[in-house]
Amino acid sequence: MQKFSRAALLKALIPGLVLSLSMTGCKDPNAGKSTDASGNGSTTTSTAAVQDTTGDTINVGQYASLTGETSTFGVESNAGLTFAVDEINAAGGIEVGGKKMLVKVETQDDQSKADEAKTIAVKYAGDAKIVAVIGEVASSRSKTAAPEFQRAGIPMISPSSTNPDVTKVGDHIFRVCFIDPFQGYVMAKFATEELKLKKVAILRDPSQDYSVGLADVFKEEFTKMGGEIVADASYNAKDSDFRSQLGQIKTAAADGIFIPGYYNEVGTIARQAKELSITVPLMGGDGWDSEKLVEGAGGPGKALEGAYFSTHYSKDSKDQKVQDFVKAFTAKTGKAPASLVAQGYDAMMILADAIKRAGSIERKKVRDALAQTKDYVAVTGKITIDENRNANKSAVVLQISGAEFKYVKTVDPK
Ligand code: PHE
Repeated sequence: MQKFSRAALLKALIPGLVLSLSMTGCKDPNAGKSTDASGNGSTTTSTAAVQDTTGDTINVGQYASLTGETSTFGVESNAGLTFAVDEINAAGGIEVGGKKMLVKVETQDDQSKADEAKTIAVKYAGDAKIVAVIGEVASSRSKTAAPEFQRAGIPMISPSSTNPDVTKVGDHIFRVCFIDPFQGYVMAKFATEELKLKKVAILRDPSQDYSVGLADVFKEEFTKMGGEIVADASYNAKDSDFRSQLGQIKTAAADGIFIPGYYNEVGTIARQAKELSITVPLMGGDGWDSEKLVEGAGGPGKALEGAYFSTHYSKDSKDQKVQDFVKAFTAKTGKAPASLVAQGYDAMMILADAIKRAGSIERKKVRDALAQTKDYVAVTGKITIDENRNANKSAVVLQISGAEFKYVKTVDPK
């Protein structure tokens, strides 16, 4: 991980600071400071740095969890982004107003920490060369960093943060995935219609925006569909003992458990549920989508065997675009692309498409072109960016079978 000295931080802050002072005549006490955006989709970027468009490369910043608690998210997303950039550059780059320009990506590791994500965002926000930023995977980290990009007028694209609040930060914040109100609906519908569950327990992590948002929506939708939430327990991601919550759930006689957490703790929770002889179906969302998930649950065929989760893509899709992508990525890396690889790839490709349509690397023009993305045929589905800068697209439900995630069904947007 990269450490920033005071001097480097200050230097990074200066372009925004200088411009805001000259624009406001020093009247705004908050100018240039890192205050929280209010989530009202504001359209102002008063402290925007002056962009330097003189170089001959398209400079893209990426921030990702390459290490730490949810490292598989950042590593996979980065693999997809890198694959996209290699493909773009091998073809000579992106055509920008008649001239081809190569893409250059700078990547910073936030160690799966929200405060690191913010530090990186401050640095990128002060970098006049940056055209756009891709990141983060996890919602809490995207939400913490986004106000910096909004203030600087830099378009940010999250490949996979699903909490609704992320893009509410402002008109420069985009995502290429669906949001949790849809994902919660998908799993509530699956629990009700396919698994015929009536009394479900929830186990959530209050420290993650993603977990709280998804738990709430599932609760609302499942209840609306006639089901009952018989327990709603909380845990801390750093905990290693979930037995008392699981004991509660057992006493409540739940016929299914919804765990909207990240893969690390889900594995442990599943193992302890098994130890307590809990045999009801376990369900989750895209936060389960990691190659480390099954390992954490004791290995293939163990505590998570048969469990279901919703996510963004299945490598088993018969779609030609998916098949071509799976083939090319596997040939290059020796490994089939996970969902986050496909999402990282799509995020970069959608940015490339927007730059091409904008015919410019000017941030504002790229932002406007991103907002107009319509029916873009991506690996993870057809993407149209809606008025709230979210992608309207379908979800898939997968089932854990051995070390594999088997495709069960696709659910289209309501
Ligand atoms: N949707 C999760 C979040 O917003 C992140 C995630 C996406 C994790 C896809 C795994 C796969 O926090």
